[in-house]
Amino acid sequence: MAKQVAPLEGIRIVDFTNVQSGPSCTQLLAWLGADVWKIEEPGRGDPTRKELQFNPDLPSYYYLQLNSDKKSIALDAKTKDGYEILKKMIEGCDMFIENLHPGAMDKLGFSWEVVHKLNPKCIYGSIKGFPVTSQYAHLKAYEPIAQVTGAAATTTGWFEGQYNIPTQSGAALGDSNTGMHLCIGLLAALAQREKTGEGCFVYQSMHNACLNLCRIKTRDQLTLDKIGYLTQYPQYPDQKFPDYVPRAGNIEGGGVLGWTYACKGFYQNPPDTNDFVYIILQREEKSFKLFCEGTGFTDWLTNPDFATADARDRNKQAIYKRLGEWCKDKNKFEVTAHLAKYEVPVGPVLNTREILTDKSLYDGNTLVKINQPGPVGEFVTVGVPFTLSSFQPTYGPCPELGGNTAEILDKLGFSKAQQEEFRKNGTTHVLPDGKM
Ligand SMILES: CC(C)(COP(=O)(O)OP(=O)(O)OC[C@H]1O[C@@H](n2cnc3c(N)ncnc32)[C@H](O)[C@@H]1OP(=O)(O)O)[C@@H](O)C(=O)NCCC(=O)NCCS
Repeated sequence: MAKQVAPLEGIRIVDFTNVQSGPSCTQLLAWLGADVWKIEEPGRGDPTRKELQFNPDLPSYYYLQLNSDKKSIALDAKTKDGYEILKKMIEGCDMFIENLHPGAMDKLGFSWEVVHKLNPKCIYGSIKGFPVTSQYAHLKAYEPIAQVTGAAATTTGWFEGQYNIPTQSGAALGDSNTGMHLCIGLLAALAQREKTGEGCFVYQSMHNACLNLCRIKTRDQLTLDKIGYLTQYPQYPDQKFPDYVPRAGNIEGGGVLGWTYACKGFYQNPPDTNDFVYIILQREEKSFKLFCEGTGFTDWLTNPDFATADARDRNKQAIYKRLGEWCKDKNKFEVTAHLAKYEVPVGPVLNTREILTDKSLYDGNTLVKINQPGPVGEFVTVGVPFTLSSFQPTYGPCPELGGNTAEILDKLGFSKAQQEEFRKNGTTHVLPDGKM
């Protein structure tokens, strides 16, 4: 077999990102073989090191799950020496990536224009909350800000009663999703640089990353504007629609009829609030026939209220009810196994514990184990979410705060005496009480 070549081998990245959005991007780039130099503020490091810790003396899983296979340099970019060190780092890198608050990087003296002059080959990746033209461009942003402004929260959740309130998805649509979107932009810029020899500025807002995943909701707004109702929504046909897309509970989102159905509990003690199954009725006659055979609802095949997909849209409440009754005395795994035999799109609702204990997911990528030296030991994380037939990523530990400072400064050509001076004047010192 030919020697495996990591796709990004030889690409050096200066990573000035913190928290989740930027680090999720640079971690993926590191797993694809890039040499990632993560800049961390001396004495503090990435704020996630000390957020939601399971032990006050150890870095949190938040940090550990987003920063493996990077090198860490403790660097105060606000000192004169820090400025010079960062300048040298940028002069020799392929990508510079940052996600500080709007205006912060300009204040530090490293805007796109400056960086482009310093190193025309350098690709500059920047994450902010909003597109530059947005009226909200000046706002700092965290996950929920992206979700509430990007069509996700207003369209997620229950559609009536006291729980009819904007609801966030548990998926990080504003954070890690933005990191993945930026990654696409950076790889496009890299391919472009092959042709032009020049780096470009890749700007990724959390808002646009989130909105991009809400395309089906903008589709629904366009339809609503034209006809005033949405046939796939539980509100159809009995309720009046507002002039914006309402929340729709657990509908499938496309034209097929999907819903969650409560099942018999699988775990008796303690009970699990996720004892549900998701079942989809496809529109085609052949699939509907199989569904009716699987459930025994064969009377629906000749009943005009259910025999066609359009009729089923009008009578979905009756479908929810009858199928709900049918599921009640079976657990979510039994329903899944049974309906799968009839080619019905179906899946058990799985909780996080069920996922992390599923041995079949430890396939080298989906869930991976990282061995972190010291008291942290082994921990599980989600690996590269796609597979390449020509490359198998490996998963190494996270760096200590400033753990690679000397190695990086050596590479940049700073003498040991200069490094000692940087340490003494605070430009590169780590925590007074040791590393983390
Ligand atoms: C996440 C966010 C809200 C945090 O804001 P914040 O608390 O102001 O923290 P920041 O890291 O942006 O910057 C704080 C300061 O630390 C400084 N800083 C950060 N790392 C530094 C370093 N290594 N050396 C010197 N200064 C540093 C910044 O320059 C900034 O200084 P300033 O306030 O004088 O301009 C903000 O960074 C943001 O909106 N980022 C863009 C969107 C994003 O990626 N959000 C995160 C989603 S996970």
